[in-house]
Amino acid sequence: MKIKQTEFVISAVGPAQYPEDGLPEVALAGRSNVGKSSLINKMLLRRNLARTSQQPGKTQTLNYYKINGDLFFVDFPGYGYARVSKSEREAWGKMIERYLRGREPLKLVLQLVDVRHAPSADDVKMYEWLSHYGIPMIVVATKADKISRSQWQKHIKVIRQSLGMPGHVPLVLFSSETGQGRDELWSMIAQAAEI
Ligand code: GTP
Ligand code: MG
Repeated sequence: MKIKQTEFVISAVGPAQYPEDGLPEVALAGRSNVGKSSLINKMLLRRNLARTSQQPGKTQTLNYYKINGDLFFVDFPGYGYARVSKSEREAWGKMIERYLRGREPLKLVLQLVDVRHAPSADDVKMYEWLSHYGIPMIVVATKADKISRSQWQKHIKVIRQSLGMPGHVPLVLFSSETGQGRDELWSMIAQAAEI
């Protein structure tokens, strides 16, 4: 994918703010700190377009980034942050559910998990939710540079088993530090979004 133009478009809290130009959307879900913003920056070759949130777990918006006028990345607020109140968690759930159930241009969800750790209960819930809605998804195991190459397969196996991933659901090993997985992920995104 040749990146010609990228821009931050809007922080949306609900359908009234979703863009209306009908471009395909690729959403990114995952725990706070898993590397969602870093992945977006690496995919777009921008150092700081998607900013690390100052207050993890406080972001309540869906952040839209437009690429080449062809596609949106939609960055979800991270989940699993312990210091979030019950009402905030419920608001998060409602917003995400409304988006996932009703968003026609949504073509693909990237679910990010940290390659170093077994998926959390929240990761499993998210994965099951996405499967339930039948939304095409790719699991992206982030921070591959943090473990040695000889450990990769073992960790991938744990992730696949913990999430209960059938063999046909793709898993991409990714590093925002080295760019590992970037080309593979772009070709999968282009195929899913038909761009
Ligand atoms: P929230 O916005 O809070 O939900 O977090 P996020 O998922 O957007 O995580 P973010 O991209 O801000 O990354 C969190 C931290 O992990 C930062 O310090 C990043 O530099 C680091 N990080 C992200 N991806 C990688 C990676 O592939 N390798 C390494 N070594 N560090 C990474
Ligand atoms: Mg972020």
